Amino acid sequence: MKLYFDHNATTPVAPEVLEPMLPFLREEYGNASSIHRFGQRARAAVEQARAQVASLIGCEAAEIIFTSGGTESDNLAIQGAVRASALPRKHVITSAIEHPAVLTTCHALERKSEGVSVTYLPVDSQGRVDPEQVRRELRPETVLVTIMHANNEIGTVEPLAEIASIARQAGVLLHTDAVQSTGKIPVDVKRLGVDLLSLSAHKFYGPKGIGALFIRKGLTLSPLFFGGHNMGEPRPGTENVASIVGLGAAAQLAAGNLETEARRLSALRDRLEKGILERVPDAGINGPATGMQGGEFLRVPNTSNLYFDYIEGESLVIALDLQGIACSTGAACSSGAIEPSHVLTAMGVPALRARGSLRLSLGRQNTEEEVEHLLGTIPAVVERLRALSPQVPDEKKAPAENAVPARKG
Ligand SMILES: Cc1ncc(COP(=O)(O)O)c(C=O)c1O
Repeated sequence: MKLYFDHNATTPVAPEVLEPMLPFLREEYGNASSIHRFGQRARAAVEQARAQVASLIGCEAAEIIFTSGGTESDNLAIQGAVRASALPRKHVITSAIEHPAVLTTCHALERKSEGVSVTYLPVDSQGRVDPEQVRRELRPETVLVTIMHANNEIGTVEPLAEIASIARQAGVLLHTDAVQSTGKIPVDVKRLGVDLLSLSAHKFYGPKGIGALFIRKGLTLSPLFFGGHNMGEPRPGTENVASIVGLGAAAQLAAGNLETEARRLSALRDRLEKGILERVPDAGINGPATGMQGGEFLRVPNTSNLYFDYIEGESLVIALDLQGIACSTGAACSSGAIEPSHVLTAMGVPALRARGSLRLSLGRQNTEEEVEHLLGTIPAVVERLRALSPQVPDEKKAPAENAVPARKG
């Protein structure tokens, strides 16, 4: 059995998405900026996709520009908004748990040559930003607040509408990285009150390397790239027509079954978590324990971040991979040392526990049988790894193991 539980890393391209892309990789190879009919057909396909994306997030088609994905959308939103501001000193507010696409962009802006100051807001034990803290950190020179909609590691949904009303009162722009929420829960730019929103096709069954940025009408960003202009967009270059068509089809697919799929995945995820907590001692959930409260999502329906004390998450990922199960930790592996996740660390999860954490992210193809298979596999794998782990305290070791006399020397 080969099971894929890593949909927050990426998703497969859905057949409904691949099919409409194919003509634009074969016979419909026109440049969307050309005047002839090849060009006109490509342009029509691009504009249809723009309308499909706009419809998914409740904006006008003219407010959508296409990018190479979430990373570029985040960079363009943040750098573009900061550099477009005429203020002599500039300040940005973000959170400590953003994706590196946001965090490292902020770090780059802090360099002397840019001279921007950045405030990294803490989060609570559920990974939530306190909107009142945004208000407290606002300064006369604050040009942008950038807070993600849903976190990629733990799935926590941030209170964006509250943050938006605070930013609006202060006349400060609000950007959100909605890469992990788009296509999973309702995302409506007007309801959220954001000025800029990043999304990426490969997180919701579209192709990799294509995304979009919502730029509220009337807002001007400084471009990242310079080149031939496409209909006055702040992102020059020949459009990637096939991928744009794929993004549009993915947006349409997501819009068509958002509620049913969110309900189905929430139930599967809850079953998975309940089963693991019943079967595995010294395990728990990182992030909000419940998925919804008062009709609002506290966590995206597909994401579960679990800790298993006394073992390394990386070992668990490798052991599960050997059993045909794909999942991940949230932590980055740098220079041979496994750093505990910056997200879990910011939530106050101790380093050892953070290192023993695992992210299971569900998707379209996952079934109840697959979840049952996972529940049948994980407890034994955890037990095996714990039996080998020097972290397990003596009183927690299996009696047979305790009975083995310790070898001296
Ligand atoms: C929250 C978040 N932002 C941005 C990105 C980057 O998106 P892309 O892979 O399209 O560059 C990701 C991808 O993992 C993400 O999860």
